[in-house]
Amino acid sequence: MKTFLKVVIFSLAVIIFYAFYANKMIPQVKPAPPPVEAKLDMGSLTMEQFIQMGETIFHGKGTCELCHNPVGGRAPLLDQVGKRAEERLKDPRYKGKAKTGEEYIRESMVEPSAFVVAGFGVTGTNDTQSPMPVVTSGAIGLKDFEVDAVIAYLQQKAGVPVTVQLPKEAPSAAKEEAHAAAPAKTAEEVVAKYGCGACHKVAGQQGALGPDLTKIGAKRNKDYLRSKILDPKATPVPGFPSGMMPQDFGAKMTAGELEMLVNYLAKSK
Ligand code: HEC
Ligand code: HEC
Repeated sequence: MKTFLKVVIFSLAVIIFYAFYANKMIPQVKPAPPPVEAKLDMGSLTMEQFIQMGETIFHGKGTCELCHNPVGGRAPLLDQVGKRAEERLKDPRYKGKAKTGEEYIRESMVEPSAFVVAGFGVTGTNDTQSPMPVVTSGAIGLKDFEVDAVIAYLQQKAGVPVTVQLPKEAPSAAKEEAHAAAPAKTAEEVVAKYGCGACHKVAGQQGALGPDLTKIGAKRNKDYLRSKILDPKATPVPGFPSGMMPQDFGAKMTAGELEMLVNYLAKSK
């Protein structure tokens, strides 16, 4: 009997060891990401994939979430914008050109000041000027079909019919996307890649939500700048909303990109 127990205990130990080993010690094999071209094969694109693309852009390249999130409170939440878009057109303050909900959302993205949601305008402009960047130019630079993808995503999220059309042909976006993932070669590219210009005046960008960085080198040294980018919450600048600047640049930037950016800012005087 004793031997039997020993065998049972030994077997259990072996099983537990291997279960643990398999879970913890063997590195998980992640499936390789699909090639960029496959993702952007417009020929066989379904609406479902197009909406998925819009969601990816919304959370990533579009930088929408930098402002449209429940934490900062600096921009309206967009979960239901697909639904309220048509209501906006009936607002007595509405002076834009849109006739449909879809057109309203597109106009919000390409001409943010056409209609400024009450209470969200640039301070001192009485809601005539929007702090939102034009998302088809500058740092964000969405293509038309990417804007459409985001609209499709926002309509679906709000549970209204998706009215945008699938893009007809594949632009040469595949190459550009691949390029965007490559490390930036100049400080200006770093600024563009990480969307600093959505919030800051820097490297030709006109963001208005954070401090102007065009002369930042005159008052801040490289150590401060580096740690501010890596851990913005540690040194909040008074007079600006704390917690708004993204906290994950350290995880995303390459060391080379960070140094290029820090050197560039330190020299901006
Ligand atoms: C730098 C901050 C910022 C970024 C980045 C930004 N927005 Fe905005 N957005 C705002 C603010 C502030 C408003 C409210 C003022 C206005 O109406 O323009 C707004 C308004 C909107 C509206 C109108 C909302 C309504 O209730 O009528 C839409 C739609 C919108 N944004 C979509 C987007 C999308 C999509 C993206 C990403 C591609 C994006 N925004 C990126 C700040 C931002
Ligand atoms: C979503 C908006 C947002 C983005 C994107 C953003 N910042 Fe900021 N940043 C802020 C705000 C708001 C402050 C001021 C409040 C604070 O200190 O957190 C700030 C503060 C700073 C400061 C300190 C300025 C001073 O006077 O001390 C630096 C430097 C800075 N940001 C650099 C960057 C760089 C570089 C990037 C891009 C890699 C970037 N920020 C992206 C919003 C942003």
